[in-house]
Amino acid sequence: MLQYTLVLISCIYAAEASSCIFREFENGTVCVCNATYCDTIPVYETPSNGSYLRYTSSGDDVRLSRTLGDFTNETTSDGAVILLQRNVTYQSIQGFGGAFTDAATINIKSLSKAAQANLLTSYFAKEGIRYNIGRVPIAGTDFSTRNYTYDDNDGDVSLENFSLADEDFDYKIPLMLEALEINEELRFLASSWTAPPWMKTNADYVNGYLKEEYYQVYADYLIKFLDAYYDQGLEMWAITTGNEPNNGITSNCTITSMSMTMNETATWLASNFGPALAKSKHNKTLILSLDDQRSFLMTYLKDMFENELAKNYTDGVAIHWYDDKTTNASVLTEFHDSYPEPFLLMDEASVLIWAAVGELSLGSWSTGEKYINDIFENLENWVTGWMDWNIALNKDSEPNWTSGFRAQSPIIVNPDDDEFYKQPLFYAIAHFSRFIPRNSVRLELTQTSSSLRSLAFETPENETVIVVYNNQTLDQRVIIRDTEKGDIEVELTGGSIHTILYK
Ligand SMILES: *[C@@H]1O[C@H](CO)[C@@H](O)[C@H](O)[C@H]1NC(C)=O
Ligand SMILES: *[C@@H]1O[C@H](CO)[C@@H](O)[C@H](O)[C@H]1NC(C)=O
Ligand SMILES: *[C@@H]1O[C@H](CO)[C@@H](O)[C@H](O)[C@H]1NC(C)=O
Ligand SMILES: *[C@@H]1O[C@H](CO)[C@@H](O)[C@H](O)[C@H]1NC(C)=O
Ligand SMILES: *[C@@H]1O[C@H](CO)[C@@H](O)[C@H](O)[C@H]1NC(C)=O
Ligand SMILES: *[C@@H]1O[C@H](CO)[C@@H](O)[C@H](O)[C@H]1NC(C)=O
Ligand SMILES: *[C@@H]1O[C@H](CO)[C@@H](O)[C@H](O)[C@H]1NC(C)=O
Ligand SMILES: *[C@@H]1O[C@H](CO)[C@@H](O)[C@H](O)[C@H]1NC(C)=O
Ligand SMILES: *[C@@H]1O[C@H](CO)[C@@H](O)[C@H](O)[C@H]1NC(C)=O
Ligand SMILES: *[C@@H]1O[C@H](CO)[C@@H](O)[C@H](O)[C@H]1NC(C)=O
Ligand SMILES: *[C@@H]1O[C@H](CO)[C@@H](O)[C@H](O)[C@H]1NC(C)=O
Ligand SMILES: *[C@@H]1O[C@H](CO)[C@@H](O)[C@H](O)[C@H]1NC(C)=O
Repeated sequence: MLQYTLVLISCIYAAEASSCIFREFENGTVCVCNATYCDTIPVYETPSNGSYLRYTSSGDDVRLSRTLGDFTNETTSDGAVILLQRNVTYQSIQGFGGAFTDAATINIKSLSKAAQANLLTSYFAKEGIRYNIGRVPIAGTDFSTRNYTYDDNDGDVSLENFSLADEDFDYKIPLMLEALEINEELRFLASSWTAPPWMKTNADYVNGYLKEEYYQVYADYLIKFLDAYYDQGLEMWAITTGNEPNNGITSNCTITSMSMTMNETATWLASNFGPALAKSKHNKTLILSLDDQRSFLMTYLKDMFENELAKNYTDGVAIHWYDDKTTNASVLTEFHDSYPEPFLLMDEASVLIWAAVGELSLGSWSTGEKYINDIFENLENWVTGWMDWNIALNKDSEPNWTSGFRAQSPIIVNPDDDEFYKQPLFYAIAHFSRFIPRNSVRLELTQTSSSLRSLAFETPENETVIVVYNNQTLDQRVIIRDTEKGDIEVELTGGSIHTILYK
């Protein structure tokens, strides 16, 4: 056996890895953090001398455990083979992240300053999971404590009384600025859930359409939001055409929403919002269309793209996760093949539990596996990044004013004890977000077995990153073959996920 020396190149808080302090709940375990303690992922140099680093998590209380291994050219086992083919490349990665909702930021602020710092470090720092995209709702959503927009003054067509809300100043902006300080590569993406009710056909925060006479006023309203955040030191990397425009079209919606048919969105984008943004100082801010479920890609969005100007204003397409179980992921590749230009970005995922069915299941590894499968499925089909919904909630999924279901979050805060819990969901995302930096390129992998999921990337630093997930309950022996380096032979326990790094 060779001896190895790992070189610790940077670790701000501790020279040693701080490991997970497990706590058991009904459905499994979480990692507990508080004001003085939180598990971190120390930064190690990626080996380039014929060895590799492997990070493993599983339902057996393993969270990002790190081991060092060697390539070999003498594999004897007859396990499944995963072959890396660097000559075939796919999409370039934008990033990973979650949303700074009112609910999330109110929850984070319910902790002591020191615990808040540990929470933000967990998500955004180099020794955390390196989130590099944050989504911010433009005014209220159903994960707010009340209904509001930035101009609830009836008939204020000159937007004279436009103003940000207490939620922005007290919760969202300060935490977004802190996160940006922790990770200067953090980008922000903004989505509006509804126009002010007076601009809508039903004068409400839920359902209703934007009145045509207010198309330009609403576009100007969004530019005013961009101005107001810019003045606070927060530039938006991208803005969407509006959160889930189909909600009120397909049914009567019960959450914050505004309906827009594809023709309306196309007209509004081409004639009002696109030109307004282009001539504003935010002319570098990207426009993402759809911001809705993948099932609308080849219907709503394809038809919207008949309007060539609307298509030209679209830099990217934002998709949500809620019908991923019922719409095959191949629609993503189908869309990419039809429209290779706009990039695809998953900008909202959340495991919902119908209240009638049960409580939130703290610690559930199988809930974490839902994210693992979904991230694989999206990245396998040209999607360039993946974002969670609320970055924090409490154990009752509050505050929100919806009813009937509860949303999971990777971090659950418990302000009574000034602590927070990192769920399996957190480590599920970590296996991707921590190791696949922006501008990494996906490489081809071919598998001899269909009882595994695997993805490979080359980072801008020329590291190879391979993520392998044993999606069976049985253990499996697997050989990962890189013809330039040799074989990596690993034993993967049932339901375990592994990220392998080397140069
Ligand atoms: C959590 O545990 C309860 C009680 O054992 C069970 O009914 C429920 O299905 C579990 N949920 C998950 C997501 O594992
Ligand atoms: C914080 O967590 C650490 C590690 O579990 C523990 O030793 C410490 O007592 C906790 N602090 C408080 C205030 O609970
Ligand atoms: C395995 O073989 C490849 C190709 O000949 C070589 O480049 C690599 O260094 C070898 N790896 C080991 C660990 O011997
Ligand atoms: C990539 O390389 C492999 C051999 O390693 C070869 O079989 C395959 O045809 C190549 N693919 C392309 C698209 O060049
Ligand atoms: C928000 O508005 C909707 C629609 O009018 C209403 O059903 C809901 O109760 C309101 N929520 C709050 C917190 O007032
Ligand atoms: C919404 O409810 C109204 C009143 O009950 C009904 O007329 C309408 O058809 C419903 N719309 C949809 C899309 O279900
Ligand atoms: C919507 O737009 C399409 C394509 O531009 C057009 O053919 C169709 O007539 C429009 N539908 C409506 C209801 O305006
Ligand atoms: C974009 O906005 C900046 C800042 O206002 C301005 O300097 C630049 O000329 C604009 N670019 C275009 C292409 O309009
Ligand atoms: C859209 O962009 C293409 C390519 O840049 C250009 O040829 C076309 O004229 C544009 N269409 C419109 C309607 O502006
Ligand atoms: C919203 O909060 C209530 C408690 O106020 C909770 O019962 C419900 O499950 C939550 N809904 C969601 C979607 O989280
Ligand atoms: C495991 O992943 C493969 C894709 O590699 C997929 O075909 C298979 O359905 C998955 N199995 C389970 C149990 O999810
Ligand atoms: C990565 O590899 C390419 C091609 O071999 C090389 O041009 C580039 O300088 C390398 N980049 C880094 C950061 O090492």
